[in-house]
Amino acid sequence: MKIDKLTKIYFSPTNTTQYIIEAISTGLKIENTKTIDLTKPEVRQNFKLDINLNNELLIIGVPVYEERIPEVIEKSLANLSGQGQPIILIALYGNIGEGIALKQLKELVEENGFNVIGAGSFIGEHSFSNNELKIAKNRPDKDDLKKAKYLGKKIIEKLKTSNNIENFAELNIQGKLPLIAKILPRNSAKMFAEKPKIDNKKCNRCGICINVCPVGAIDKKELEIDDNICLRCFACVKKCPKEARKINFKKSWLVKFILRKKGKVRKEPKIYF
Ligand SMILES: Cc1cc2nc3c(=O)[nH]c(=O)nc-3n(C[C@H](O)[C@H](O)[C@H](O)COP(=O)(O)O)c2cc1C
Repeated sequence: MKIDKLTKIYFSPTNTTQYIIEAISTGLKIENTKTIDLTKPEVRQNFKLDINLNNELLIIGVPVYEERIPEVIEKSLANLSGQGQPIILIALYGNIGEGIALKQLKELVEENGFNVIGAGSFIGEHSFSNNELKIAKNRPDKDDLKKAKYLGKKIIEKLKTSNNIENFAELNIQGKLPLIAKILPRNSAKMFAEKPKIDNKKCNRCGICINVCPVGAIDKKELEIDDNICLRCFACVKKCPKEARKINFKKSWLVKFILRKKGKVRKEPKIYF
């Protein structure tokens, strides 16, 4: 198949999903690329894309929230439609559990007219990770990125072997929702962590936190966070140059115990092509 255009679509408040997408893109070696960053609320709100050319490859990357696709992105992804084009799917999780995110993504894009040609679940530093509670710290690392680049290389090789996308076997992507994720309500992160408060002694009012918040939850004047909207992605904490915000857990000992226990053993990426 002749593929000479790549469209990269992702949601990535703390950038780990984005790093993996870029590494796959390096492996694909397609020069003509376009990026749609659905992390920005204004991009998400206006997002509608119908793909009708047959020389185009797409790649979608989302982080795993509560073992699923983040709720905040579901509506936008439903506005993407194709006519049989190949697509690569990536789910990025924080070394706790990948759940059903990749499976959900596959079902969604297939319903909307795409052919899943490659996929992968990768690991990135957990949103809740900090110096005191390190979960998948500094991931994706060199090995993760190497694997992502390899996936890109293998997918482009595969696409070159046939002119008919229907000739490729369906990828066997499985997923399981753990009991705890079934029981808890959606957006349950609020039950485990406070909204990040600001330390006015450290804050220099640069406004970076306002711009990096994926849901526009930070008041421009007071820099207060709307508790109802905040996802607990902690982009505002991680990207603050003055460390003026921090992560405070609710039921601290229990949350830390569970995360430490579940996140202790290093998990490895799984790739499909
Ligand atoms: C609300 C919320 C829920 C999360 N749920 C999970 C989860 O179920 N399993 C997991 O391993 N990581 C989970 N994470 C961690 C993210 O998947 C991980 O930090 C990822 O690297 C974030 O991607 P990004 O850097 O592209 O924003 C969750 C993070 C948030 C903010």
